[in-house]
Amino acid sequence: MKNITIAIDGFSSTGKSTIAKQLAKELKYVYVDSGAMYRAVTLYAMQHNFISEHFFDRDKLILALDKINLQFKFNATLGYAEMYLNHKNVENEIRGLEVSKFVSKVSEVSEVRRKLVEQQQQMGKNKGVVMDGRDIGTVVFPNAELKFFITASIEKRAQRRFKELILKGDNVTFDEILKNVEYRDHIDSTRKDSPLIVAKDAIEIDNSEMTLEEQFDKIYGITIKTL
Ligand code: C5P
Repeated sequence: MKNITIAIDGFSSTGKSTIAKQLAKELKYVYVDSGAMYRAVTLYAMQHNFISEHFFDRDKLILALDKINLQFKFNATLGYAEMYLNHKNVENEIRGLEVSKFVSKVSEVSEVRRKLVEQQQQMGKNKGVVMDGRDIGTVVFPNAELKFFITASIEKRAQRRFKELILKGDNVTFDEILKNVEYRDHIDSTRKDSPLIVAKDAIEIDNSEMTLEEQFDKIYGITIKTL
């Protein structure tokens, strides 16, 4: 079996990361959640008051980029890597609705993208990697041997995200989540730098009516044939 690069892109809350994590585990590949990196930069911007409901000081964030250290550290108990921002575990904080509200604005900044894409390419340089995000098959690894594009209806995605946050104990409403998913879809797909588009050689999967198991079987089956 050869070591390849697997790019999994798609809209918010499609369950990409669950599938990507499972696939990486099965193949004994490295899994990289690129969204966690954009989320951690957003958390930094929030902590330093560079961004709020009413303003966003892009210049201050750009000037501070060298001070932002991002690392994934594998948690053997959980079986996956967690995000560390300047040596602090921020896994829980970056998943909440507050960060979700601002992350797409931060992700529009080209300087942020350049820094993160470079780090992502470094992490995948030896292949044997499954990376999920929005621009993995188009920008980060345009030559990836295998590319998936995952989508699902907006209602299904909002329902899944709502359930996830409620289980985590967050105090959110379904309507807030639906609006956030729509808002992020819009910004992510219309931004100038690296918009969310389907790579021409990507395999598209609509998982609205699929269970996680069905989805995994499909993706794993295609992957095995490629190896
Ligand atoms: O994947 P996740 O929903 O955690 O990503 C959060 C946000 O990070 C996305 O809505 C998008 O704005 C940004 N992102 C991106 N490029 C990536 C991964 C995530 O712009 N490769």
